[in-house]
Amino acid sequence: MSVNSVIKRITTNTLQDMKMRGEKIAMLTSYDYSMAKIVDDAGIDVILVGDSASNVMAGHETTLPITLDQMIYHAASVVRAAKRSLVVVDLPFGSYQGNSKEALHSAIRIMKESGAHAVKLEGGQEICESVARIITAGIPVMGHLGLTPQSIHKFGTYTVRAKEEAEANKLKADIIALQEAGCFATVLEKIPAKLAEEATASVKIPTIGIGAGPGCDGQVLVIHDMLGLNKGFKPRFLRQYLNLFDEINGAVKAYLNDVKAGDFPGEKEQY
Ligand code: KIV
Repeated sequence: MSVNSVIKRITTNTLQDMKMRGEKIAMLTSYDYSMAKIVDDAGIDVILVGDSASNVMAGHETTLPITLDQMIYHAASVVRAAKRSLVVVDLPFGSYQGNSKEALHSAIRIMKESGAHAVKLEGGQEICESVARIITAGIPVMGHLGLTPQSIHKFGTYTVRAKEEAEANKLKADIIALQEAGCFATVLEKIPAKLAEEATASVKIPTIGIGAGPGCDGQVLVIHDMLGLNKGFKPRFLRQYLNLFDEINGAVKAYLNDVKAGDFPGEKEQY
């Protein structure tokens, strides 16, 4: 019997059941084997291999530069670590916006080459044809509405979305459209809490919020942000659980001093 058959894997059906029971869904990002192993071991329901890897792993200002090959590399590393969590992978900018055939091709590459369990796409009614086509191939799709970072150059800023009635109404129509197209869940990013609560109540699929208040069915954070690795990034919605930048910085300085002083390696650290 393999390890995988002993540990019960979270599936898209599990998330649906959790919404029905009122049990909150906890999602975190991971991009590499070691971090994903810790996150999976802690019992996180969903690991998102987000295209935020472009920012926190590669140092780009936006999520736009990351490629499909790079996402597959990150996703395969995470999949090797995740024994229980559902692993969802972002389709990166430029890998699905062209047409539904391109979207399906990209989604298939992610599933085949990384072993992930689902993909995530940004957008509403305009991507529904692609969502439906990907799902027809047996690939579960998570949506992403509100602040969609791949469209940052259209928005111009990372501030709260859908504060005006017209955009709020579009979001309400978009979430229904994503549900009808077959999405198993959707992220709601940086929108007013009241709108997120209304949108959540309007659909059967779970919503997972980031900066969208407590009325969502679950929450997601970028792991580098909640661990305090991303020094100086402190948006209002973020709860920072550790200050790893300073912790690691302190450890590196201690090692540096030990090496410079000829104090490392010591007697017990040699052969
Ligand atoms: O790429 C990402 O990390 C995301 C989350 C912020 C939802 O899409």
